[in-house]
Amino acid sequence: MNDKTAFDPRAFRNALGNFTTGVTIITARAANGDPVGITANSFNSVSMDPPMVLWSLAKTSRSLQAFEQSEHWAVHILSADQELLSNRFAKSGEDKFAGVEVEQGLGGVPLLNGCCTRMQCKTSFMYEGGDHIILVGEVVDFDHQNIAPLVFQAGKYALTTQKSSTVSFTPASNDPDSSFSENFLGYLLARSHFQFYSQVRKFALGYGLSDTEYFLLSALSIKDGRSQATLNRMFSYTGFDASSAVLQHLCEKAFIHACDELYYLTETGRTATLHIIAAAKSIETDVLGKFGYWETVSLKNLLKQLIMQTDPGLAHPWEDRPDA
Ligand SMILES: Cc1cc2nc3c(=O)[nH]c(=O)nc-3n(C[C@H](O)[C@H](O)[C@H](O)COP(=O)(O)O)c2cc1C
Repeated sequence: MNDKTAFDPRAFRNALGNFTTGVTIITARAANGDPVGITANSFNSVSMDPPMVLWSLAKTSRSLQAFEQSEHWAVHILSADQELLSNRFAKSGEDKFAGVEVEQGLGGVPLLNGCCTRMQCKTSFMYEGGDHIILVGEVVDFDHQNIAPLVFQAGKYALTTQKSSTVSFTPASNDPDSSFSENFLGYLLARSHFQFYSQVRKFALGYGLSDTEYFLLSALSIKDGRSQATLNRMFSYTGFDASSAVLQHLCEKAFIHACDELYYLTETGRTATLHIIAAAKSIETDVLGKFGYWETVSLKNLLKQLIMQTDPGLAHPWEDRPDA
């Protein structure tokens, strides 16, 4: 541990990356009147009374002199959708404020908009900290809004999701490999699908539609005029069969009609499908209402990645290929 030559800076950086932080942009006004600002995640709280915060600034920063000389600076805790702004203020030497709307804070310090929290600070102390200087400031004024923060974890931006205290995420180490555990992805996906879909099914059944029939109608509601072969290709991975008998049955019930071997929704079919889809969306709103906005974004983002990673090259319902 004391062997300095063995100290690997990259490994140290990676080790520090395990400490998950928010992301801030800290701004000030240089003596020549230019606005300065840098992305920083070294920010931390120090004291409640008086209210104080700190952060550290690399001595190589072009903004060093401005921060050393400025009496005031402002900390902006970034919101989840401010990744581009964070990237802009993480690049040295660019005109970081070009096109960015700012307000004037104490001492003319530029204040950014759309952040979770803004704190206007007055420098209390500056300390040497190796290749950084540590700035400690008293918070003179602040404002905040209840929106999701941007997170930085292991060198990458991340989103916060609440951890359920009732759910275990660690697979039981004594589970035999063959055991079907509650952490098995197949189980989690299937169960969440069946629980969600069982609520939608009630509405399809209200129109006398089986699962297969409802899926076929919803595929036609995205794009009308598909052949039996295309419909079968689309559903080949679901285990459902767009058989001639099922299509015939939908024609007899006047939900679809056939023309030149392509199938189209009738007015009745379209109305029924839209009603069921509207009910499904309302169920989605209820379910996702129990999550935060960014948890919903994370959940859908991960599901989309899973679909991409496991896709054997199936036709996608929204692709606009002829007869796709
Ligand atoms: C997520 C993130 C966190 C950062 N944290 C700090 C920090 O705490 N202190 C620092 O000096 N630089 C930090 N940087 C790097 C600066 O943002 C970067 O060097 C900036 O370009 C300096 O700008 P300047 O040279 O124009 O002053 C961070 C960068 C990123 C992407």
